[in-house]
Amino acid sequence: MKLNNSLLLTLSCFACIFAMIVLPDGYKSVGKSWPELLNKPMEEVKQAILKEIANVQFVVHNVDNYKMYPSEFWFKKVRLVVNGSNVVVEEPPNFCGMEPDFSLVGGIVGQKYKTVLDTLHEKIPTLKVSVFKNGEKIHSTSADDVDYARLDVDSTEKVMKEATYVRVVVDA
Ligand SMILES: *[C@@H]1O[C@H](CO)[C@@H](O)[C@H](O)[C@H]1NC(C)=O
Repeated sequence: MKLNNSLLLTLSCFACIFAMIVLPDGYKSVGKSWPELLNKPMEEVKQAILKEIANVQFVVHNVDNYKMYPSEFWFKKVRLVVNGSNVVVEEPPNFCGMEPDFSLVGGIVGQKYKTVLDTLHEKIPTLKVSVFKNGEKIHSTSADDVDYARLDVDSTEKVMKEATYVRVVVDA
């Protein structure tokens, strides 16, 4: 099974430097770097990246002191190093985060969603899942809908397509 519906399908895992961060069971690291956005204004850079990774958050560091921040500061976020004119300088914007590895859960299409929920829970225990029928949410495994897997089901409550991972931003 492939992450056909994932927004992050095209993200290759470049040299993630987050070896010290332990991923929860069933998750894999994903990363991307955008060298082509170097030396562009910050707002333009943000818009370009948001088109690729919906809702991703940014950490903005000043070029004069960005080296003092350890990488945990921007895990799951995109770091932008800017100069006094808010131009992205010095290092290409990069993202290193994680997402559920749906390939651990084979062949969910056509199964009753309740069965799929059990399988997901077994393979990716911390994953939150919301189930949608006709675009309306009919079930959720968690009260807060932050970073969840979305299942779409038909009128017989069978899963219609592969799960998608939805990142939702909560403003700090
Ligand atoms: C910021 O970087 C841009 C592009 O390199 C440059 O044109 C601009 O003068 C710089 N601004 C400052 C305050 O260094």
